[in-house]
Amino acid sequence: MKKTNSELSRRTFLGNLSKAGILGVAGLSPVAAQAGSLLTPSSPQEPAAHAFLCKPYLQHPAPDTITVTWLTTRPCYSWVEYSAEGQPARKAHSVTNGLVDANNRLHKIQLTHLEPGKKYSYKIFSKDIAEFQPYKLTYGSTIESETYTFTAPDPKAKEVSWVIINDIHDRPESIPHLMGLSGQAPYDFVFFNGDVFDYQSDEQQIINHMLTPCGNTFAPQTPFMYVRGNHETRGKYAREWHQYFDNPGHANYFSFTWGPVHAIVLDTGEDKEDNHPVYAGIVDFDAYRAQQAAWLEKELQSPAYKKARYKVVMMHIPHYHGGEWHGTVHCREMFGGLFNKHKIDILICGHTHTYGVHPPEPGTHNYPIIIGGGPKDGNRTLIKVKADQKQLILTMLKDDGTKVGEYKV
Ligand SMILES: [Fe+2]
Repeated sequence: MKKTNSELSRRTFLGNLSKAGILGVAGLSPVAAQAGSLLTPSSPQEPAAHAFLCKPYLQHPAPDTITVTWLTTRPCYSWVEYSAEGQPARKAHSVTNGLVDANNRLHKIQLTHLEPGKKYSYKIFSKDIAEFQPYKLTYGSTIESETYTFTAPDPKAKEVSWVIINDIHDRPESIPHLMGLSGQAPYDFVFFNGDVFDYQSDEQQIINHMLTPCGNTFAPQTPFMYVRGNHETRGKYAREWHQYFDNPGHANYFSFTWGPVHAIVLDTGEDKEDNHPVYAGIVDFDAYRAQQAAWLEKELQSPAYKKARYKVVMMHIPHYHGGEWHGTVHCREMFGGLFNKHKIDILICGHTHTYGVHPPEPGTHNYPIIIGGGPKDGNRTLIKVKADQKQLILTMLKDDGTKVGEYKV
């Protein structure tokens, strides 16, 4: 088909904008919200310029694999080029049921067969699809990122360290601030322990309040894991939230072994009764927590749990030291007995906005409960965990850098 002059000049204009987009990832345009759904293109009135909406962020760290994730304004075809030091470059794209993922805006490319502990460099690429006819696909311009590096996860490492952030509540500036307290010591991953948002509105909120501050601080180099708090379950976009994130096991509640630690992550759900009027009859968290309790009981008897040197549980709502609301009490009923019976070493939570280290209370909770604070200045915390063959040390820093808690296992 012959293009008109105006079509051609528009394409050139969009191509130039695309190049600007590479440089200006942080300056996100409002077109994101109207640029169509995640999996298939919609028909926006005015097509957006082909650009990245965020820097790549690393997800789903697991033995020999990691997933590179990013968003674009327009549906396109995307891939990752990566290489280990001194080895030839490889290309990865994603294939679902024989079809290479394309014509989409949310890109999740899994890099496989990684050598644990080895350093890799990578770049992301997105090729615009100008026209998608059944028997003729016309590509537009290709945009690419700068080169980033990461170290492949090494689950058999002798030690592991990570940092935990919770209860940011739509304060994106807290992410670089708290990460800045982590110091020079390296960490293997970042863990978000819920309530990064007040409630879910749309994709732009996820980009502006999480993906951009994470991308500018650590996420292209270091993976993060993320469990919901009670606030991520709220708002009209709560049912799309999970698409942007990917934990070990591809689930909202999950477990993983990294070095001497076996960690179990539970999704504690809402704080009020399922039939509370504010939920309007469209939540079902009691059954969901019961489902997790059944999973937890098996998990606590798994060889990976039993032979781990340190047994760590992370979840948003603490089942003690957080009042007597329904969610708290139900977590206690569902999980509390199992934690005691199978002797977890430490439980790390958020939710109450009051930071504290609660030592074991035999018969109630036979293990310490650590609660990170937030979200206002003076209450925010960064929790650091480092575990080697000798001990696990948890340190809690307040947002001015002072140490406000420590626990050793
Ligand atoms: Fe909360």
